[in-house]
Amino acid sequence: MAKIVILTGAGISAESGIRTFRASDGLWEEHRIEDVATPEGFMADPGLVHRFYNARRAAAAAAAPNAAHRALAELEQDGRHEVLVVTQNVDDLHERGGSANVIHMHGTLTGALCHSCGHRWSAPAEMAPRDPCPACQKPATRPDIVWFGEMPYQMEEIWTALRAADLFVSIGTSGNVYPAAGFVADAGHAGVPTLELNLEPSAGSRYFDEARHGPATAIVPAWVREMLG
Ligand code: APR
Repeated sequence: MAKIVILTGAGISAESGIRTFRASDGLWEEHRIEDVATPEGFMADPGLVHRFYNARRAAAAAAAPNAAHRALAELEQDGRHEVLVVTQNVDDLHERGGSANVIHMHGTLTGALCHSCGHRWSAPAEMAPRDPCPACQKPATRPDIVWFGEMPYQMEEIWTALRAADLFVSIGTSGNVYPAAGFVADAGHAGVPTLELNLEPSAGSRYFDEARHGPATAIVPAWVREMLG
């Protein structure tokens, strides 16, 4: 059974109404990335960071999976390929679109993490700095999101899957943030064919064996139809 590893980024959720990160003004929903997506930003103003992610959580809950999410689920459910989705997205639109085999390398909006004892639990709709950890009771809760300067989750598992893959596909990511931006080179070194599906050429577009450009809801279902014959 052919093994396909699919990396996704903000571009796959854009047509569900969730804004991508690298808008032309360099801000993310009117905030500097340093203020809302770094451990230092959280230490400086945890209230602001919680309010920011509370709003992202509400936006993700109000959004619906689109045809690109659903097409990847169809590819997995068809059963002829072994599909692993590695997403940089913190929304749960892949799961709600029907994908089961998903790694959230940058964490999820639906998770809470205690930065004192490391306990994880389901995030409530609204989180605040004084919320106690259900395990150690310390007021040390944070969103279970991987911020800049932190190690993404499940990297060993991802690299093992990448090296063993028969195809690597990158969808809707600008190729600016490592280690995900390096997956195309990792796959290439292992002799794995690589395909980019993005609105426009990404920063690493030239490293892919093939690149197709257009909106995800058009080019992802078209590619899946090809794969399923
Ligand atoms: N269809 C396909 N691609 C799209 C669409 C669309 N409808 N709309 C936008 N894109 C593309 C853009 O052209 C861009 O290349 O999606 C990409 C989005 O890039 P970013 O906003 O940089 O998002 P991403 O690559 O996921 O960011 C990586 O950076 O901010 C951190 O941790 C955060 O996971 C995030 C990481």
